[in-house]
Amino acid sequence: MAIVQQSVRWIRRDGRIVDGASPETLTQPGRVRVLDQTRLPGEVVFLEIDELEPLIDAIRRLAVRGAPAIGCAAALGLAAVAGKYPPLSLADFRKRLEADGALLAAARPTAVNLSWAVNRVIREMNASGARNDVEAKRALLLAALTVLAEDIRLCRAIGENGLPLLRDGMTVLTHCNAGALATADYGTALAPIYLAREAGRRIRVYADETRPLLQGARLTAWELQQAGVDVCVICDNMAGLVMKEKRIDLVIVGADRIAANGDTANKIGTYSVAVLAAYHQIPFYVAAPYSTFDLSLPDGKGIPIEERDGTEIGNGFGRRTAPDGVSFYNPAFDVTPRELITGYITERGILTPPFGAAGEVL
Ligand code: MRU
Repeated sequence: MAIVQQSVRWIRRDGRIVDGASPETLTQPGRVRVLDQTRLPGEVVFLEIDELEPLIDAIRRLAVRGAPAIGCAAALGLAAVAGKYPPLSLADFRKRLEADGALLAAARPTAVNLSWAVNRVIREMNASGARNDVEAKRALLLAALTVLAEDIRLCRAIGENGLPLLRDGMTVLTHCNAGALATADYGTALAPIYLAREAGRRIRVYADETRPLLQGARLTAWELQQAGVDVCVICDNMAGLVMKEKRIDLVIVGADRIAANGDTANKIGTYSVAVLAAYHQIPFYVAAPYSTFDLSLPDGKGIPIEERDGTEIGNGFGRRTAPDGVSFYNPAFDVTPRELITGYITERGILTPPFGAAGEVL
C-alpha cells in the first residue's frame, strides 16, 4: 500500500502500524500516527501523538486534515490519550473522556466527521459493558480501530460507485484535496479516479490550487503524481476559462458536511466552481461517506463555517503579500446549494436528495 494511503494509522508500542483491530493490538498501548500534511510536498514526515493538546493542535493547524481523516485521527487519538489516563474508577474515566472528547470535537467546526467520530467511540465504549477503566480503554480502542477500518471500506465503495462516471480519456476538475491524504485510504473525490487508473483508463485531472492553503497544489497534485495520474495544477481563478475551453468533462469534489436537503459545505471556492460548472453545463458531483451527512440539519444555513486567521491570506507564500494594516476575511468553507449538484457519490451508490428523516443515516 502506498504511503499516501496511510495518512492516518495506529502505531502499537511494538512499532507495528495497523489499520484494524486484533486481540494483540487491543492489549497494548499505542499512538495515532499521521502524515504531517503541512510539510508536503517537500517532506514526508509522520507525527505520533498520544496527548490531547498536540492532537488538537495537529487538527487545528491542518497537519491532519480532510473530513474523514480528521474523524479517524480524532477517534484513534482519543483512544491513545485515554490509554494514558492513570487508574480511575469507571465513573471518573467516563467523566474525563467526555471532557477530553468535547475539547477535541471543538477543534474545527465545519467537518461533521470530527464530532461524529468522537461521539461514536464514546457511545460504543459506553455500550460495551466494560466493568472497569482497563476494559473501557480496550473498548474505546476497538471502537476507534473500527472507525479506521470502516473508512478504508467506505473509500473503496465510493470509488467503485463513481467509477462508471469515468470513461477512458476523460478530464476531471477537482478542488482542494479529497484524496488519500484526506481519508484513511483512496479518498472520496479521487477514489473513482484511482480505480479508473487501476482499470487502465486514462484520466486527466485539473487541480485547483486552492488558496489560501494550497491543498490542491501541494496535496492533490502530490498524491496524484505519486499514483501516476496525469495532473495539471491551475490557479483557482482559471477554472472558468478551462471550462469554457471545453477541457473539463466532469467536476468531482469532496464534502465536509451535507445537510438533509443536499446543501454541501466544502473548501472555500467550491461554490464558485459549482456555479461555473452549471453555467458551462458540466456535471458537478460531490463524493462523501455517510459520516459526512448531517441529517439533523434541514439545509445548509445551519452549517458552522470555520473562519481562520487572515495571515493565511496575507502571508500565504512565506512573505507578506498585502500591505500591513489591511484587513482580511478568511472563511475556510462555503456552502454549495443542492440545485448546483448533479449527484452524491456515496458508498451506497450515486444518490440524490432529500436524504431521509432527521437523525437517520443514509
Ligand atoms: O480545510 P481542509 O483542508 O480540512 O478542507 C478539506 C476539504 O474541504 C475537503 O474537500 C473535505 O474535507 C473532503 S475530504 C475527503
